[in-house]
Amino acid sequence: MNKLLIALLVSVGITGVAHAAGDAAAGQTKTAICAACHGSDGNSAVGNFPKLAGQNERYLLKQLQEIKAGDRQVVEMTGMLTSLSDQDLADISAYFASQNAQIGAAKADLVAAGEKIYRGGVESKGISACTACHGPNGAGLASAGFPQLSGQHAQYTEKQLKDFRVEARTNDPGKMMRDIAAKMSDKEIQAVSSYIQGLN
Ligand code: HEC
Ligand code: HEC
Repeated sequence: MNKLLIALLVSVGITGVAHAAGDAAAGQTKTAICAACHGSDGNSAVGNFPKLAGQNERYLLKQLQEIKAGDRQVVEMTGMLTSLSDQDLADISAYFASQNAQIGAAKADLVAAGEKIYRGGVESKGISACTACHGPNGAGLASAGFPQLSGQHAQYTEKQLKDFRVEARTNDPGKMMRDIAAKMSDKEIQAVSSYIQGLN
């Protein structure tokens, strides 16, 4: 996308990002400290560190602003964002958004159960289908800042769902995720998280 188009989208509020759009090339130079945990291209090798590669810019920027402000607690990142400006955070978000996510694999014995929840929810318990907001392939909805889930480490996804369930993570607008996770059992969380790891 060229700069003029981005400026236009921002001015009509489609991206909802209040600041100048990020510059991926400038962002790359600011990510050395992040690479240790998230990987230099945002494909982390460790299950509790989320993959950032290919995640949409709007979602990444929102998380970074909230982690910096302490509205989302990430103890591993304490103090790391303090000296970064809003422009730095936008640039970093643009960089990771421009990378390609590496997809993992689902556990064979959890695919059927996980896919059922992902695509159809659990009607009897009022659990919405994940496809409604995260898309049939887990790509999310970039224009709304709904995150990409596809390929994410199952361990990380499982922790997020459990955090939403007990309100240890509360930055989801309109309680969209807390309301869903509150109704999910450990088994359902495990199955859908495994499915997402292999989703593409
Ligand atoms: C010491 C390890 C570590 C370092 C270094 C680190 N992070 Fe993180 N980061 C984490 C962990 C762990 C989480 C997930 C916490 C949780 O479970 O909620 C996280 C979460 C995130 C998220 C939220 C991802 C999502 O899908 O919601 C973003 C964005 C992020 N980090 C960006 C960065 C950036 C940018 C840097 C460098 C400036 C950085 N991190 C440095 C460990 C680290
Ligand atoms: C009504 C829309 C909606 C539905 C339905 C929905 N989600 Fe979400 N989900 C969101 C939004 C919005 C966020 C981002 C919250 C934020 O801004 O921090 C999110 C965040 C997440 C995250 C955290 C991603 C990350 O990188 O940290 C996970 C995991 C997740 N959803 C899984 C699911 C699963 C599994 C389902 C189906 C059982 C589901 N979601 C259904 C809207 C939805």
